[in-house]
Amino acid sequence: MSFFHKLAFVTGGGSGIGRATAKILAREGASVVVADKNTDNILDTLKSIPKHADQEHLGVEIEVSELNSVKDCLKKVLDKYRQPPTIIVNSAGITRDNFLLKLSEQDFDEVLDVNLKVRYSLVSSKYVAASATFGEHCAETSTQAI
Ligand SMILES: NC(=O)c1ccc[n+]([C@@H]2O[C@H](COP(=O)([O-])OP(=O)(O)OC[C@H]3O[C@@H](n4cnc5c(N)ncnc54)[C@H](O)[C@@H]3O)[C@@H](O)[C@H]2O)c1
Repeated sequence: MSFFHKLAFVTGGGSGIGRATAKILAREGASVVVADKNTDNILDTLKSIPKHADQEHLGVEIEVSELNSVKDCLKKVLDKYRQPPTIIVNSAGITRDNFLLKLSEQDFDEVLDVNLKVRYSLVSSKYVAASATFGEHCAETSTQAI
């Protein structure tokens, strides 16, 4: 599948699955927004992904558990590209694995806030193309929280 002229927004793009996905999307022609809370890792990802002449990648710091941070990032994307992302990959995530009886409420809440709340934040930010939020180009990796 070619992603020529597509704009992809990858949360957790600074590491692991997010970085690997960012590389593939860039290889297939998309411009990629690498969104992560770890700025060093964002830079490493940006250095490592392919870039053709007509692609422009962007790194943005994001805290996916905070609505305002998600809104700010999407606004930066709109300001730069003059279009909302058409591909969204949600790969920012954490694990606090434990038996439920030993899992603290704080850990439970943190996992939900990081792994799930971003869906609400993206939709309510209104900056995201409906096709990306609800259509075929929306991928989730943080399945352990669902
Ligand atoms: N690796 C696997 O085999 C696997 C399998 C199934 C599901 N998952 C889930 O997929 C997700 C990604 O896995 P991974 O292996 O790439 O993990 P990873 O730790 O390598 O990458 C997660 C990225 O998310 C970022 N991040 C974490 N919290 C954040 C926050 N609050 N705001 C913004 N960015 C944040 C981290 O900085 C990191 O770059 C996780 O939720 C994981 O549980 C992973």
